[in-house]
Amino acid sequence: MVATTFLSSVITFLLPLFFRSVTARYAPCTQSFHQLIADKVNISNCKKLGTLGAQWGWKTYEPKERRIDVVFGAKLHENVGWLAWGINPGKKPQMVGTRAIIGIKLLDGSLSINTYNITSDTKLGCALKPSEEFHNMTMGYNADVEFHNMTMRYNADLDYYIIYASVILPRVYNISKLNYVWQVGYSALGTSPLMHPKTLQNFDSAETINLKSPVGQIVGEHRHHMRMVHGIVNIIGWGTFLPLGVIIARYFKYPLELEGWWYKLHISCQILGFSLGMTGWIIGLWLGCASKYYTFKTHRLYAMFIFPFTALQMFALLLRPGKTDEYRKYWNIYHHFLGYALIAVIIINIFHGIAIFKPDTTAWKVSYIAILATLALTVIIFEVYAWIKFRIKKAKSKPAAKAKSKPAATSIADEPSSPSTEGHDWAEES
Ligand code: HEM
Ligand code: HEM
Repeated sequence: MVATTFLSSVITFLLPLFFRSVTARYAPCTQSFHQLIADKVNISNCKKLGTLGAQWGWKTYEPKERRIDVVFGAKLHENVGWLAWGINPGKKPQMVGTRAIIGIKLLDGSLSINTYNITSDTKLGCALKPSEEFHNMTMGYNADVEFHNMTMRYNADLDYYIIYASVILPRVYNISKLNYVWQVGYSALGTSPLMHPKTLQNFDSAETINLKSPVGQIVGEHRHHMRMVHGIVNIIGWGTFLPLGVIIARYFKYPLELEGWWYKLHISCQILGFSLGMTGWIIGLWLGCASKYYTFKTHRLYAMFIFPFTALQMFALLLRPGKTDEYRKYWNIYHHFLGYALIAVIIINIFHGIAIFKPDTTAWKVSYIAILATLALTVIIFEVYAWIKFRIKKAKSKPAAKAKSKPAATSIADEPSSPSTEGHDWAEES
């Protein structure tokens, strides 16, 4: 029954999340955005971007001209802010090397738009200056991409800031594999945009697109889906099966009195949870290596604690002392203490993992809280049941004890033990 409840929680909450993520990557832009830009420019395609609530539309003039008309829009919810769209001639869609158009909303409400070359110096904190200035300084560095007819507007109906431009691409760019990058930031010094926030959304704002395909197909992007798989597998493995195994170990012996079953079920649950968790952990490591431009340190640190110590718990099963061994009770204390500590760290880390998806965390949180609530409810039910069983046993044993002995001679030893000691004598594990 418990297993069915978990499986239905998982199916109800986690699988829709995965399918939503898969489809969200290819979403067309909203009707209102499409309408707005179609009134002003001749755009043939339009799509919602995966992060920062941004949308973009384009029209290509290939093969005659190497020109693309671009419209890019996003919200800026602070008094000062900037939005950027750019292309990267390198092998990967990434910030460094990007030639970008950046539109800035200044403190006085005016809008400024310019082109910028983003270099590794930008990442190190050097001021990002409009590329005319950069161009003058470095004599022709920016001679590759040409941006024309750049404008930035605000649309009050959509509360969107929108950049319009025509881009002329040199030969080095291949529009069937175009690396493009977008970004939103909330501080600027005049026409110099300053560092953007450091959430996953801000790091995930780059992809490779095939502009020759009718829907603007994304090329070689697996990371987004792997993150979903990583989150779901970890929630099921570490966050569901391992605590479920602990519940089985604690309550199946008493009050359920399934002596022959509890140990088999406990280790099956732990082996399944550990195998799934290990798969999720390996995917996490792969993700960490694939996204070498940033790390999520706290999440990684907890993960590095969880895996080896859970592995130790698993291997400990093979090495545990026999039932009659004098060290058995110390082994039990260690196994239970580490087990509970790991469950606590796992739960904390799952919430850290979910927080990486900020601000889209509601569905994840609701799903995992529902799973935790089901587990907690199961524990409460078993605790109450154990207590009732203990009271009944105690009530039954009293008249018998009275009949046997004189009232004055009743000893504490005749009292039945409490449910927490009677059923949970860990030293008696099979
Ligand atoms: C305004 C000055 C900027 C600064 C100081 C800056 C700085 C940084 C830093 C330090 C990181 C790495 C974060 C980490 O490892 O913790 C990063 C990542 C990133 N930034 Fe920026 N950035 C700026 C502007 C931009 C602009 C204009 C764009 C888009 C056109 C952009 C797009 C990205 C992307 C996509 C990433 C993810 C990693 C990568 O692709 O390299 N950034 N930025
Ligand atoms: C206890 C369970 C979990 C473990 C042991 C774990 C483990 C890891 C590891 C080892 C990494 C790589 C870190 C790095 O090298 O920078 C990682 C990254 C990550 N994890 Fe988890 N994780 C867990 C749960 C979750 C959950 C529940 C979610 C989301 C719902 C999540 C989301 C992420 C994300 C988004 C990344 C970053 C991926 C990237 O760099 O692109 N994790 N995790």
